[in-house]
Amino acid sequence: MEKKVSVIGAGMVGGTCAQRLAEKELCDVVLVDIIDGLPEGKALDLAEAAPVEKHDAHITGSSKGYAATAGSDIIIITSGVPRKPGMSRDDLLAINSKIMKDVVSKVAKESPNAILIIVANPLDAMCHVAFETSGFPKNRVMGMAGALDSARFRYFIAEELKVSVENTNAFVLGGHGDTMVPLPRYSTVAGVPITELMPKERIDALCERTAKGGGEIVSLLKTGSAFFATASGAVQMAEAILKDKKLIVPCATYLEGEYGINNLFVGVPVKLGKNGVEEVMQIKLTPEEDAALKKSAAAVQELVDAMKKLG
Ligand code: APR
Repeated sequence: MEKKVSVIGAGMVGGTCAQRLAEKELCDVVLVDIIDGLPEGKALDLAEAAPVEKHDAHITGSSKGYAATAGSDIIIITSGVPRKPGMSRDDLLAINSKIMKDVVSKVAKESPNAILIIVANPLDAMCHVAFETSGFPKNRVMGMAGALDSARFRYFIAEELKVSVENTNAFVLGGHGDTMVPLPRYSTVAGVPITELMPKERIDALCERTAKGGGEIVSLLKTGSAFFATASGAVQMAEAILKDKKLIVPCATYLEGEYGINNLFVGVPVKLGKNGVEEVMQIKLTPEEDAALKKSAAAVQELVDAMKKLG
């Protein structure tokens, strides 16, 4: 293929990203992990499915370093550890920021012109680490959260109103976590805002289910977290960039004054094209929506401050 995407972390999200990228025949894929044989094994398994799935994407794996990632157009970073029982937020922050620093310094060296899509959690804080470590301009570092959160909201809307998911559009802003801000006024079915299609209590219930969407999957899976839809979100962003689609999708992006937020990665609608984040779309918010977004941004700031203290 003409384009190349490297996926760091060949776990559940990384493996599924590789599968979706290849099966959509968007690019060649390089999977990287620190576990000996894991990326090689997953890559070979995916490659052996290619004749049946009818694609010619090359998929390779490396547990021996980053040379194979050289010259990537996009790097999707899923590497990290999940929060385990007894692990504090600060423990998780310390471990995952160390992993992020290590990975980003290596990928940035091999692919100095790449666009970074961060998936590892805690998402907004990991975007900061990637931004600072890479030294890349802000349009080339972004986080995948809103694409997943809005996909969840769209699915819940479609299920509630018994319509095709394709008829739905949804906006979810803010940090990736309990303080995220689903925006019903800008969420539509065939162009009609859902505020005209559902009673307020149903909308509130769907918003809450969206904000707690990650936790709902964790409590069902018990030993892991969401990965199918997570990978879909990351690949949606990669596809928009690879095809220069100018797709408007909520992403964690570095704000410098937009929405009154400064020097912070927060989820807002952006235009994605070949240069990465090509524009931050500034939509009008009611005072309540604005307050909710500011509250969400404050939660992100708190994480970033905690991370700085950890060093
Ligand atoms: N370099 C490369 N890979 C690493 C490193 C590292 N320094 N540290 C950990 N990894 C790998 C792990 O070996 C593992 O294979 O990252 C992979 C993570 O995969 P999973 O544990 O299966 O986690 P997954 O479900 O894929 O989630 C990945 O995405 O949605 C987020 O919260 C989720 O932060 C998590 C990330």
